Amino acid sequence: MKDRLAIGLLGLGTVGSGVAELISRNGKHIAERAGMPMVVKKALVRDLARPRNVGECPPLTTDPESILADPEIDVVVEVLGGEEPALSYILAALRAQKHVVTANKELLAKHGKELFAAAKENGVDLYFEASVGGGIPIIRPLKDCLAGNTIEKVYGIVNGTTNYILTRMENGHSYEEALAEAQRQGYAEADPYADVSGLDAARKIAILASIAFGARVTEDDVARTGIERLSPLDLAYAHELGYKVKLLAVAQELDGALDVRVQPALVPEHHPLASVSGVLNAIVVRGNAVGEVMFHGHGAGRLPTASAVCGDLIEVAHNIRQGVRGRNGCTCFHHKPFYPAGQVKIRYFLRLELADEPGVLAKVAAAFGQEKVSLAAVIQKRLTEHGAEVVLVTHPAATRQFAGAVAALKAFPETLAIHQPLAVEGEA
Ligand code: NAP
Ligand code: HSE
Repeated sequence: MKDRLAIGLLGLGTVGSGVAELISRNGKHIAERAGMPMVVKKALVRDLARPRNVGECPPLTTDPESILADPEIDVVVEVLGGEEPALSYILAALRAQKHVVTANKELLAKHGKELFAAAKENGVDLYFEASVGGGIPIIRPLKDCLAGNTIEKVYGIVNGTTNYILTRMENGHSYEEALAEAQRQGYAEADPYADVSGLDAARKIAILASIAFGARVTEDDVARTGIERLSPLDLAYAHELGYKVKLLAVAQELDGALDVRVQPALVPEHHPLASVSGVLNAIVVRGNAVGEVMFHGHGAGRLPTASAVCGDLIEVAHNIRQGVRGRNGCTCFHHKPFYPAGQVKIRYFLRLELADEPGVLAKVAAAFGQEKVSLAAVIQKRLTEHGAEVVLVTHPAATRQFAGAVAALKAFPETLAIHQPLAVEGEA
C-alpha cells in the first residue's frame, strides 16, 4: 500500500504556487480525503532565482527529466500553460505511467484525442477539472452526476477577463478603458488576444461540448466572435430593452448535429447569467431529466484553480489505493456532424446609423423582408451628427439570411455605419 502521493509540478506560477500552497495549508484534511498524504517532490520552472509566492517552496528544477523520469513520482501536475513543451511533457509522463492532472484548456481543446489515447494505452488517469471554469466543478458533474441525462444545451460565461470588461462597459467605460483596467487588475494578460477574441472561451466550450455530447469538438470547430468591436452604446441600448450583454459560449445538439459557438449576446436581465458580473464565471447545463442547473463561481485565480487541481489529485490517490483507473477517461463515443454554418437560427440585435431621410426605414425593412428575416422591433434611438441611430431586433433567423440582409444594407447609400450584430438569448 502506498504511504504518500508524490507529485511533480510542471510550473510554479499562479496555479502551481496555489497548488503547493493548498497542499501545505490543507495537508491534513487532504490526506484524510485522499487516504494518504501528498508531497510535492519537485517543481519545474524556467527561472530558479524568481521569488515564489508559496510558504513552503518545493525543491525547484529546470530539468524536466528530473520529474518525468523520476520513478518515485506518481502524478505530474501540468500547469505550465501553452502548447509546447507542455504537450510533449504530458505525453512523456503518461508513457512513463504517471497519472496527469492538467489545467491546460489549449492542449485539451487541440490534442484531447491524442492525450486520452495515451492515457488509456498506458493505463493511467488524465484529469482536467481546472481547465474549464477554474474553481467551479463542471467537468466531473458533467461526466458523473449528470450522466443519466441526455444533455440538450450547455451555455454560459467561461471567460472572466471579458466578463469584467463588459461589466465595466455597462458603467459607460469604453472597451479600451475597460481592457486597460482589466490589465491593471491583473485579470487580462499583457497580450489579451485569447480572452477578448473569444479563443479562450472557444477552447473551454469545445471541452464541455465534447463531454456533454459524447463527440470530439476541437477549438477549430467553434464559430467565434469576440468583444473587441462592442461599444458602451450596445450595452446601454440592450439595458433599455431589458438585457445585459455577455460573451456567451454555447453548445447544443440540434437534430443530431452540433452547434458550438462563442459570441457576444443579449441575456434577459431576469436570467441568472445576467447577474454574473466582474471576473466570475457561470455555466448552465440543460439535461432532459434535471432541467437547467447552473454552476457559478471563480473561473480563475490562484487558490480557486488550485482547489480544482487538488480535487483531481484526491481522485488520483483514490484510484491508486483501489487499484482502478478513474472514470474520467475519454467519453467521445460518437462522431457527430456540425450543424451547417449559416443555418443555425438566432435572434439578432443590430445597431445601424442611417441617413435621416423619408423612406429609409422602409428600405431597411424591405432588405430584411427580402431575406425572409422577420423584424421584432425597430427603434430610432437618437440623431447623430451624420444621421439617425437605429436599433433592430429580429425574430429567429438563419445566420446566412441575416448576413444576406446586412450585405444588402451595406450597399445602400443611406447606410452610414453597421455595427457588430449581437445574438439575443431568451425573452426579456
Ligand atoms: P503562469 O503564472 O505563467 O505560470 C507558468 C509556470 O510555468 C511558471 O512557473 C513558469 O516558470 C513555468 N514555465 C513555463 N514554461 C516553462 C518551460 N518551458 N520550462 C519550465 N518552466 C516553465 O501560468 P498560470 O496562470 O499558472 O497558468 C498555468 C496553466 O493553468 C495554463 O494552462 C492556464 O491556462 C491554466 N489556468 C490558469 C488559471 C489562472 O487563473 N491563472 C485558471 C485556470 C487555468 P517561471 O516561474 O520560472 O517563469
Ligand atoms: N484568462 C482566463 C479568464 C483565465 O479570463 O477567464 C483562465 O482560464
